[in-house]
Amino acid sequence: MSVSVVTFFNPKAGIGKTSLLYHTAWMLAELGHSVLVVDLDPQATLTTRLVDEDTLEDLWTQETDRARTVAQAVEPVLKGGELREADFVRVADYLALLPGDVALAAFEDALAQAWPQCLGDGDLLRPFQAMTAFWHMAQSAATRADAELILFDVGPNLGAINRAALVATDHVVVFLAGDLFSIQALRTLGAALTGWRSDWTKRTANYKNPRMALPSGAMVPAGYVVQQHEVRLTRPVRVHTRWRDRVPAEYRTCGLAKTEFTGYVEGDPECLAIMKHYRSLVAMAQEAGLPMFALRAADGALGAHGRAVQAAYSDFKELVEHLLARIGDHL
Ligand SMILES: Nc1ncnc2c1ncn2[C@@H]1O[C@H](COP(=O)(O)OP(=O)(O)O)[C@@H](O)[C@H]1O
Ligand SMILES: [Mg+2]
Repeated sequence: MSVSVVTFFNPKAGIGKTSLLYHTAWMLAELGHSVLVVDLDPQATLTTRLVDEDTLEDLWTQETDRARTVAQAVEPVLKGGELREADFVRVADYLALLPGDVALAAFEDALAQAWPQCLGDGDLLRPFQAMTAFWHMAQSAATRADAELILFDVGPNLGAINRAALVATDHVVVFLAGDLFSIQALRTLGAALTGWRSDWTKRTANYKNPRMALPSGAMVPAGYVVQQHEVRLTRPVRVHTRWRDRVPAEYRTCGLAKTEFTGYVEGDPECLAIMKHYRSLVAMAQEAGLPMFALRAADGALGAHGRAVQAAYSDFKELVEHLLARIGDHL
């Protein structure tokens, strides 16, 4: 049995998705679920949040025999060699990380070429090794890290790296700003998931006697998280609310849910959470290198801040419980 992969996907940059994944991962660990996070965004924001600068410099600049970032692990495969076993960083008892790397961006072309090659009629080992490299890398690390769940962070685009990440994905969490852009991007995202799912099925059917395990490419939408407010309030809240109210209907129109629902996001069973703006807690948490809900008095979380920390704990606990209920059968 493989370990389930949940990918957090957002159609737009800078809206707080990596922060959401970071807090979800820490809360899963807090609740006793062992989790492996994999940073597949070449921007590597998640990695910079989880490891200190000295370790980062070491990971990114020191040549060793071991693969210590996702790019170092998959590089040989995309050049026709074998996948290297990727070392994970143990961040906490129940939290492990496969670090990201800006070098990953260089693999966009190789992954774009492997996709049509999977439909060829020659030896399909190479293109399938390339298309499933992220999945095999993550499964191997999850087994070694004793993780029961894998979370993928990806960049905000529909490129070949993300397609390979989605092929390896069982469940997709959609993160939305709830603005006009997000509404339009939902359509593109819905179409991409539907297309990739059936394209992957065609490819696996074309590979008659696979010489390795293949991911199912299920990409089942697990629900969405919507921002309560823009991270930077550049527009009146009223305008934001107007677009946000269209999310439940659009989510369904785009084929991301089959459930009938006509209300607002607040009552939508597909809505995993409405992400608050956590204001000063955000900077305090980044400074302390901790999730917002783990800030202590010694980190400056006193008085009203202390109460905000407790509220954040409840918010993320609820979100994680909601998510686990949606994907629970697959754990
Ligand atoms: N809930 C939130 N409240 C306030 N600020 C947030 C929140 N989530 C994220 N941010 C801030 O927004 C910025 C972008 O967040 P990030 O998670 O990197 O976005 P993305 O992954 O969508 O590009 C960061 O500076 C982060 O600290
Ligand atoms: Mg990000």
